[in-house]
Amino acid sequence: MSEGRGAWSPSQSNLSKAMAVMDAAQASGNLYRDGFGMIASENIVSPMVQKIVSSDLHGRYAEGLPGKRYYQGCDDFDTIESIGIDLAKKVFNAPFANIQSTSGTVSNIGALKALAKPGDQITAVSTADGGHISHARMGAVGLRDLNLSTYPWNEDRMEPDIDGACNLIRDIEPKVALIGQSVFLFPTPLSEIANAAHEVGAKVMYDGAHVLGLIAGGVFPDPLKEGADVMTGSSHKTFPGPQGGFLLSSSEDEKFHRKLNNSIFPGVCSSYHLHHVAGKVVALAEFEEYGQAYAQDTVANAKAFASALASEGFDVLAESRGYTATHQVLTRHGDLDSGAGAKAARLLEDAGIITNMNMLPGDTKALTPSGLRLGVQELTRVGMDQTQMEEVAALYARVLIKGEDTQSVKKDVKQLKSEFQTIRYCFNEDNLNGYPF
Ligand SMILES: Cc1ncc(COP(=O)(O)O)c(C=O)c1O
Repeated sequence: MSEGRGAWSPSQSNLSKAMAVMDAAQASGNLYRDGFGMIASENIVSPMVQKIVSSDLHGRYAEGLPGKRYYQGCDDFDTIESIGIDLAKKVFNAPFANIQSTSGTVSNIGALKALAKPGDQITAVSTADGGHISHARMGAVGLRDLNLSTYPWNEDRMEPDIDGACNLIRDIEPKVALIGQSVFLFPTPLSEIANAAHEVGAKVMYDGAHVLGLIAGGVFPDPLKEGADVMTGSSHKTFPGPQGGFLLSSSEDEKFHRKLNNSIFPGVCSSYHLHHVAGKVVALAEFEEYGQAYAQDTVANAKAFASALASEGFDVLAESRGYTATHQVLTRHGDLDSGAGAKAARLLEDAGIITNMNMLPGDTKALTPSGLRLGVQELTRVGMDQTQMEEVAALYARVLIKGEDTQSVKKDVKQLKSEFQTIRYCFNEDNLNGYPF
């Protein structure tokens, strides 16, 4: 290359910063390759999705909808987005789908823009009970300047108190009744809440960020069939796509569809990350093929993991309800607000097991909670089944109950994980390595 501007003559200091980033990304990949990724909001993507998210699309723009663009050069992306909208409608069994949103939070901001005006009332699950920050004044609900009232919570059943929630809705007559949580063990009985909401003219918005893959896989009730008007969600939690969001609706009303589309573009996105949209479309096609088996195996693994942890002596929440009906399992590791969850998460990380501390019912401080929230969707994607769930629970016990040296447990974590490196439930590309970088 000639010695002109932009030629290859980097300063060592800038190059070394970029190289430090490359090294850290490699190290992060190795951490998950050799360990157990068990954060309930994460997943790994298939080789075909990996390929398309690093395609030329990552630098392109396509404002608008297929066939109605503000830029030239979008014909091929029109093909991609059109296939994706059709697939999303099919996979989520919805008359309307927008696949442009760049995250679950962005989908929520867009939906709240379409459904409510500043100053309107909204009802939702409180963050203390497992609601997401975007359902709170500190997040999207505050950004839209909505007045929030939170549902009473049934701690034994780990769901909103249904009568209390319906009374609240009838009492304050919100514009939006928002349902769904980040801590999500059991389906919310939705029909009664939806009836109460519709009685007072409210729209029902269901945040399925965590459970979209389970809903689409047919192992979790479909909110759009049970009364939700709108469903939002991330494309990268139990739905195993690249990071991004979906906005879906049960409505057949084209005027409402236009409002929802406008709430994403131009509402909250200009460029909507075309490479990730394309990745979502590939993930949707893979889900059509393998999603049911993946969703069934994920929930079976979560149940097996919860039982195995309980047999090892852990305090696993919701025993009376069979522990879980999702990909998540909750464990308590000490007194309320004691920080025992934080300590457990750190010890597990030392042993190569990546989790997150979580507030449990009764905890009041997000930084010193008593529990852990665990997810099995990623381990399921690399082929672990109920036998391995027992082995994983035994490794947890060696760290947290038997107090074994974390470095010796880490060797066994790595050994077990070395047998589970290829991704399942996806199209058979040449290289099925789940942890390429
Ligand atoms: C219930 C819920 N909604 C929304 C989100 C936000 O999703 P994203 O991280 O894709 O913005 C999360 C994230 O964990 C969540 O748990």
